[in-house]
Amino acid sequence: MDRIAIEGGARLEGEIAISGAKNSAIKLMAASLLTSEPLRLTNMPRLADTRFLGQLLSRLGTEVQEQDGPDGPETLLHTPEIISAIAPYDLVRQMRASFNVLGPLLARTGEAKVSLPGGCTIGARPVDLHLQALTAMGAEIELEEGYVIARTPHGLKGAEIEFPFVSVGATEHALLAAVLADGTTVLRKAAREPEIGDLARCLTAMGARIEGVDTDELVITGVGSLGGANWSVIPDRIEMGSYAVAAAMAGGEVRLTKTRPELMTALAEKMIEAGVEVTPTTDGVIVKRDPARRLRAVDVATEVYPGFATDLQAQFMALMTTAEGDSVIHENIFENRFMHAPELIRLGADIHVQAGEAVVRGVPALHGAQVMATDLRASVSLVIAGLAAEGETMIGRVYHLVRGFERLEEKLSACGADIRRVRDEVHEH
Ligand code: UD1
Repeated sequence: MDRIAIEGGARLEGEIAISGAKNSAIKLMAASLLTSEPLRLTNMPRLADTRFLGQLLSRLGTEVQEQDGPDGPETLLHTPEIISAIAPYDLVRQMRASFNVLGPLLARTGEAKVSLPGGCTIGARPVDLHLQALTAMGAEIELEEGYVIARTPHGLKGAEIEFPFVSVGATEHALLAAVLADGTTVLRKAAREPEIGDLARCLTAMGARIEGVDTDELVITGVGSLGGANWSVIPDRIEMGSYAVAAAMAGGEVRLTKTRPELMTALAEKMIEAGVEVTPTTDGVIVKRDPARRLRAVDVATEVYPGFATDLQAQFMALMTTAEGDSVIHENIFENRFMHAPELIRLGADIHVQAGEAVVRGVPALHGAQVMATDLRASVSLVIAGLAAEGETMIGRVYHLVRGFERLEEKLSACGADIRRVRDEVHEH
């Protein structure tokens, strides 16, 4: 199994183009099930997760074609008809978000059998809110041997749904089902992450009627059918934030392009408070830091958008390991999302985790060591730490990284990082 080797200490200087957002791309791909016409997605990231979903969609009847367009990678998705409404365990378990094919399958065919999801092992991550929303829209749902079996004998009906708390996945799932439901659906306490706005706008381009986009109340008037569209995937704010933190950690000056500064407002505020220079540009930000000066410790608490993203918590923790003072990091979205802390400690960090909180006491320097990626975002925090650690850091289980970061080593080495992929002879068990 591959590992990543990093020789720390190099400053980062240069430019990194941000890819399309993984978390948007996979929902947009699922949306293609809602129409018999082709959906062309541009600015597509090429990732393990998009490949998994492509495999699943092909089983369901979608022709998935990856191609190089004038503006980079694109994916053409075309589902003339659903040939199977079964999403099997072996495909769904690899990525939690593939569960979101349930709603579109129900909307298009009136029945579906979808395995309960797997995905990152961060907390319990149930799908009860997804199922409640679909039930409110008239779906009859049974759970059998790890599968959700759903039917809509009278079709999907518009409903008023108030989520008990904000869920990105449940909001998107309800939206995907409501666009073809009969009547009006109101989603209250909806998540308003930018990827949901991206999905809602793409669905609108396909002919859906959605009001309240980017707010916490979405009003969807069902339509009889949707058509195809051309849609450019929104830039990946988590990739953007990860490279911004990497530049701050290693020191130097990096320009992040093909994105939008407002996608990382909450992170930028915290980075500036810590002493990093973050300057917005027309298509991104410039991140600058003098490595000779220590950063200041600042506290963060993860929140739903527009708050500080949970998907950037591990990266920010890495940054705080060498800041001056104590930083308190609260994780409010997921339980058990500090699995990176013991690995950062192996690199010399001083971190104490208790319940949903980590206290990071800044140390003058980290030292390279062997560490292991535990989940997607945690793994990039180890890369970030390794960039600044003295000596060599070797990261195992990099399959987590390839799920969500496109050409990571290439993008970082282009800015001067000493990072490479090591192919192991011996398999891990
Ligand atoms: C999405 C993102 C993930 C990000 C997260 C929060 C994708 C593919 N993934 O995950 O990267 O970290 O949003 O920004 O877009 N919950 C329930 N019942 C449910 C659904 C969720 O209890 O039915 C809980 C979860 O366990 C979690 C919280 O609600 O504690 C938030 O989860 P949610 O917003 O749904 O995250 P995901 O959509 O899974």
